[in-house]
Amino acid sequence: MDFDKMGFRREKLAETPTPFEEAPRFSKAVGGPRIFLKRDDATGLALGGNKARKLELLTGEALELGVDTVITCGGPQSNHARMTAAAARKLGLQPILVLDGDDPGKREGNLLLDHLLGAEIIFSGSRSSGDLLDEVKDEVIARGGKPYVIPLGGSSPVGALAYIECVEEIVAQCRSLGVSPKTLYVASGSVGTLAGLIMGKIIFEAEFSIKGIAVSPGAEAKAERTVQLMEEAVSLLRSRVPCVDPGLQRLLDRSVEGLRELVSIDESQVGEGYAIPTEAALEAIRLLARSEGVLTDPVYTGKALAGLVKDARDGLYSEDDSVIFLHTGGVPSDFAFAEILSR
Ligand SMILES: Cc1ncc(COP(=O)(O)O)c(C=O)c1O
Repeated sequence: MDFDKMGFRREKLAETPTPFEEAPRFSKAVGGPRIFLKRDDATGLALGGNKARKLELLTGEALELGVDTVITCGGPQSNHARMTAAAARKLGLQPILVLDGDDPGKREGNLLLDHLLGAEIIFSGSRSSGDLLDEVKDEVIARGGKPYVIPLGGSSPVGALAYIECVEEIVAQCRSLGVSPKTLYVASGSVGTLAGLIMGKIIFEAEFSIKGIAVSPGAEAKAERTVQLMEEAVSLLRSRVPCVDPGLQRLLDRSVEGLRELVSIDESQVGEGYAIPTEAALEAIRLLARSEGVLTDPVYTGKALAGLVKDARDGLYSEDDSVIFLHTGGVPSDFAFAEILSR
């Protein structure tokens, strides 16, 4: 995708295209279809993950606005917060992270990396971290700074646009391997990744369906938010794109119902809630690690992988079918779950 041509400034932060590789031993272990891993855990930027792509456009917008500080929010083990801090440092901006809850004291996993990156960390106590963003922004302005606020998960319309390009890569990678996967599985939280992938599917006419595996409750609200993000991103494209190519035109012409019918969110792997590991996720993490040497995490990718394993075991696919697992990163949080992962 030529984002520059489309009027969006982009800062180079991610190593792309990311690898696309088959996981035959994992397929065998789950008795399932051929499984391909799209390695967005290998984007680079302080240990990688899906946020690197989003941050390229988000920080591009920030620099365009001439800011000096980037503020974002998330859970204490937020991968997005860690990568935002790294992106800010790389671009000479001050990172401020507003994290949920009280200071746990111990710096481990992503929180340790936030500390190493020298981010200013504010704990939100009994309030939600997202609710504090405006106050923190006002404080920065009051002390003479110029802040740019990135919403939870980097899931603004601009952030979501970045995932269009991931589909462009996958379509080319599938073509060169001669495979036509049926489904792409992706962990879904703030759903910007899912929204971008669906837009990419429309633009690049990808044949696979996209299944978001929810990592927190509220599939219906997530589906609505996905549609809303796509609608907002499409309006943004309409206002910016001077010359429209046929793929983009297909997206711009799509009705809201046409966008909604492509959204699929599976809530079966949430368990007791966000960042609470499930037995199925722990099993999936061990299976992939021990069959392919690929690491995942109990908050996001382990749950998404468990969704794929469940579908394979439920007989949704034949041996000749193929599916894609979009590995969105998250491994640094494993170090904060050492007790449960080492059982
Ligand atoms: C490792 C990982 N995977 C998946 C996601 C979900 O992406 P999104 O918030 O765009 O749904 C996140 C978001 O924080 C993440 O850190």
